[in-house]
Amino acid sequence: VDDDQVVSVLLGFLQYNEEIPDSRQFSAEHNFDHNQVVSVIQSLLGFRYIEAQDLVWETCVLTDEGKRYATQGSPEVQLFLAVPEEGSISLVDLKEKLGDSFQNFAIGYAKKNKWVEVQANQVSRKVQHVEDKLKELLLKIQEGKELHEDGIKFINERKKNLTESRNWKGYSSIKKGPRYAPKRKNLSTTLTRGNVEIWEELEFKEYNINAKGVPPESGHLQPLLKVRKQFKDIFVQMGFEEMPTNNYVESSFWNFDALFQPQQHPARDSHDTFFLKAPSTTRTLPEDYVERVKRVHESGGYGSRGYNYDWKREEANKNVLRTHTTAVSSRMLYEIAKKPFAPKKYFSIDRVFRNEAVDRTHLAEFHQIEGLICDRGLTLGDLIGVLKVFYSRLGISKLRFKPAYNPYTEPSMEIMSYHEGLGVWVEIGNSGMFRPEMLRPMGLPEDVQVIAWGLSLERPTMILYGIDNIRDLFGHKVDLDLIKRNPICRIGF
Ligand code: PHE
Repeated sequence: VDDDQVVSVLLGFLQYNEEIPDSRQFSAEHNFDHNQVVSVIQSLLGFRYIEAQDLVWETCVLTDEGKRYATQGSPEVQLFLAVPEEGSISLVDLKEKLGDSFQNFAIGYAKKNKWVEVQANQVSRKVQHVEDKLKELLLKIQEGKELHEDGIKFINERKKNLTESRNWKGYSSIKKGPRYAPKRKNLSTTLTRGNVEIWEELEFKEYNINAKGVPPESGHLQPLLKVRKQFKDIFVQMGFEEMPTNNYVESSFWNFDALFQPQQHPARDSHDTFFLKAPSTTRTLPEDYVERVKRVHESGGYGSRGYNYDWKREEANKNVLRTHTTAVSSRMLYEIAKKPFAPKKYFSIDRVFRNEAVDRTHLAEFHQIEGLICDRGLTLGDLIGVLKVFYSRLGISKLRFKPAYNPYTEPSMEIMSYHEGLGVWVEIGNSGMFRPEMLRPMGLPEDVQVIAWGLSLERPTMILYGIDNIRDLFGHKVDLDLIKRNPICRIGF
């Protein structure tokens, strides 16, 4: 039956009848598929040939398991039938005989029903005939028949879900609409060379000026990139230059040693750091600077006592995936120190890697935002001041600073902000003044200080876009539709 046939029967029926009370009944009487009738009604409603009321109802249908029992019989009856009429069968043989249709619980039911008994792992029949009440009931449900109360109770007492409810949609009181006609006209959509002469006879389909246009195809920025742009703008507006972060692979030397991070530091453990197999070591390091770094680790200098251990070049040579962008900062500061001193403001936003267990807030790779200022006579007050300006540009004004520890900064401060929604102070960054043990071996003048801070890009992005699982933001599980739909990013005022 094609749709046109259903249309003409339906419109024809309405010509002589007030209404069609129920689309189900109409379908059954005319031997139409109800789904087809529903779709025809929907299209006629669209053209206002008819009017109708929505009708929604629920029925009970069988789950896959329920369907299986309805055709093959209940597991307990299958089991019973596999037990010989005379004598007994061992449990092992029974399992083998039944194969896939064996279910542990079937023995329980067969015993409870007093159909079989089990003695010393041998199963034998206690009766010769059993009824498959479950199968009968399931078949009834399948045919859409009503069950009696005790039948419903019987099914519900099974622990497994053999049935589920399904919602259906149909229509009631289907009547003539404002544009009713006993026959559906084929509406024209366009005026063509072929039909222009008979335009007066034609009926045109109305324009739907409320229809949404097709979204234009275009590239889309990942939320992280949008937020990164905002951070970049803030840094640039504050006069910061971007550092070159285009090296994911870094030597342990620049990632740790140059930062006065001792070689036994837990962060250097393979649990937290990804080491490279090939090339496993760096090719070159600035030798005289390496010598000064070694000395400051082993015995100190510049007013420090050092760590008092044997510094090993092999450890420094090991290549890693950089664990923070501070590795880049250390390279840049070393470059500054090579030239006559001039103050600098630098920033970077790029990827870092940590060998962490992945969960809803952690990935093994994420992005760090880092800023630093290198100038003569900087103090902790300058750091606090810069952080206040920086975060206020993000729209965050309630800040608190908490003493913290980093091997390369002293003092160090955790940056806390008041979360209005949660009513608590949350950590939003880490900061500090780089230690003389880091700066002096580079050759920076004694009165030069470096203030610096870092935060992740993911955390603010998740907050801005209301994403609570980091795997929805980054990685192979990201929903591309979400990337297309997410709005532009605006942070701050
Ligand atoms: N490198 C630090 C981190 O990975 C952040 C930081 C940067 C701290 C600069 C102090 C100064 O958490």
